[in-house]
Amino acid sequence: MLKASNIFTLLKTSEELLTLHNIKEAKLDAEVLLCSILNIKRSKLFTMRSDTLTQIQLKQYQKYLERRSNREPLAYILGKTEFMGLEFNVNSNVLIPRQETELLVEEVNNQIKINNYKEILDMCTGSGCIAISVAYEKDVLVTAADISKEAIDIAVGNSRINKVSSKIEFLISNMFDNIKDKKFDIIISNPPYITREEFKTLEEELLFEPKNALVAEDDGLFFYNKIAEKSKEYLNNNGIIVLELNSNISQKIVELFEIYGFIKIKIIKDYANLDRVLVLKNG
Ligand SMILES: C[S@@+](CC[C@H](N)C(=O)[O-])C[C@H]1O[C@@H](n2cnc3c(N)ncnc32)[C@H](O)[C@@H]1O
Repeated sequence: MLKASNIFTLLKTSEELLTLHNIKEAKLDAEVLLCSILNIKRSKLFTMRSDTLTQIQLKQYQKYLERRSNREPLAYILGKTEFMGLEFNVNSNVLIPRQETELLVEEVNNQIKINNYKEILDMCTGSGCIAISVAYEKDVLVTAADISKEAIDIAVGNSRINKVSSKIEFLISNMFDNIKDKKFDIIISNPPYITREEFKTLEEELLFEPKNALVAEDDGLFFYNKIAEKSKEYLNNNGIIVLELNSNISQKIVELFEIYGFIKIKIIKDYANLDRVLVLKNG
């Protein structure tokens, strides 16, 4: 139980508590959670060191710390996260947008600029982070699909928050099933790609995320295979496919797409120097 004390002491106790539960960024997390309760920026926190919390704020902070101690990700506790400088609401129905995925969005934005692409498909949209970030930056029309109604509800909300809902059509769809009579200049996807074996080794935080957003059968290839099979039907002749990669099977993914007649343009590495984004064109 947290004792009523000034913010300086409270933060020290909270950091120790989170460290005890093996939270890597204990200090940062303790501060971010407190700032969200006080509704202030982190820079303001240090001018308030001798202030105290109300009983209600203290209780709320205690709850947040308990959730974080149980290894629930910060973004789910806060109910939001940042991606490409934009705000996205998230809950346990959607994958938390990852920093590596920003590399994919940057590549897509570049390709749109160079080739003047207009029609975009974001398959497996989740929180809508890719579709919304691209629509925010570029003059494009996006179709965003996901099998999960709960995810689509969140994505629709996020498109409103970021004022791009008129540029995006959201669809509940099992892969391409509900995408009718349409051709796209870019097919984007960050599909589930973790193998069953890899799933067993994930850190505890990831177990809070929807399993169907993470795991793919056929040694991680199931969804890449679906996209490879269907893309000819949905891609314009001069169009491209941009995929986030499971770096452990990146070569197999390239080979799979080659079988279906696509040609690798490039692979982009992430901050850890791992294969992260694959760009392909029609063969
Ligand atoms: C790795 S998450 C990506 C979410 C988001 N695009 C991102 O980059 O953060 C994969 C998404 O695929 C969706 N998904 C799983 N199976 C699907 C299927 N059969 N058809 C369409 N979407 C599916 C999940 O609901 C999840 O939102």
